[in-house]
Amino acid sequence: MDVMTAIRGRRSIRRYKDKKISPNEMEDILEAARLAPSAANRQAWELIVIEDRETKNALVPLCKNQKFVGECSALLVGIEDPAQRWSRVDAAIMLDHITLAAYEKGLGTCWIGAFDKERIESLLGVPSNRSVAICLTLGYPDESPTPRSRKAPHELFHRERYGRKD
Ligand SMILES: Cc1cc2nc3c(=O)[nH]c(=O)nc-3n(C[C@H](O)[C@H](O)[C@H](O)COP(=O)(O)O)c2cc1C
Repeated sequence: MDVMTAIRGRRSIRRYKDKKISPNEMEDILEAARLAPSAANRQAWELIVIEDRETKNALVPLCKNQKFVGECSALLVGIEDPAQRWSRVDAAIMLDHITLAAYEKGLGTCWIGAFDKERIESLLGVPSNRSVAICLTLGYPDESPTPRSRKAPHELFHRERYGRKD
């Protein structure tokens, strides 16, 4: 699959089949994360992969009761190092690699930004010098959502300097 096909086809998936991700697929997906670019190649991120059903269920109320957090095959918790300026950006790029690599394999993802940071950090034993940046559900889609709209190019792009649209 070419990259543009994955970019165009990916959707946020919020319904998942009850199915474990095969070790090979998981290995490839984590490799896509590992190869992500990062500021000064510091790779200032870490990732907690949660497949245990009890832990996922315990995370549902910490993610604003988003039920599919308990139903996905794996919840991926992106960890940043707040002492490093670009750490959160590094973590986001790494997880975005996962969204596209997962799509190519027929897996779905959904970013989870609505969560109680302190309670998740406590549940998962995240040390005080690290922080949960963002999470991602991962699993086999049980829905085919239609594309969400996007802003028109003229609302997003400027030419040469801010405000120039010609
Ligand atoms: C930083 C971030 C946080 C998000 N948090 C949530 C979330 O907590 N729950 C959810 O259902 N979707 C969440 N989303 C998914 C967005 O709603 C979704 O990407 C957007 O509506 C566009 O839809 P699409 O991904 O299908 O193209 C989040 C997306 C991003 C990038």
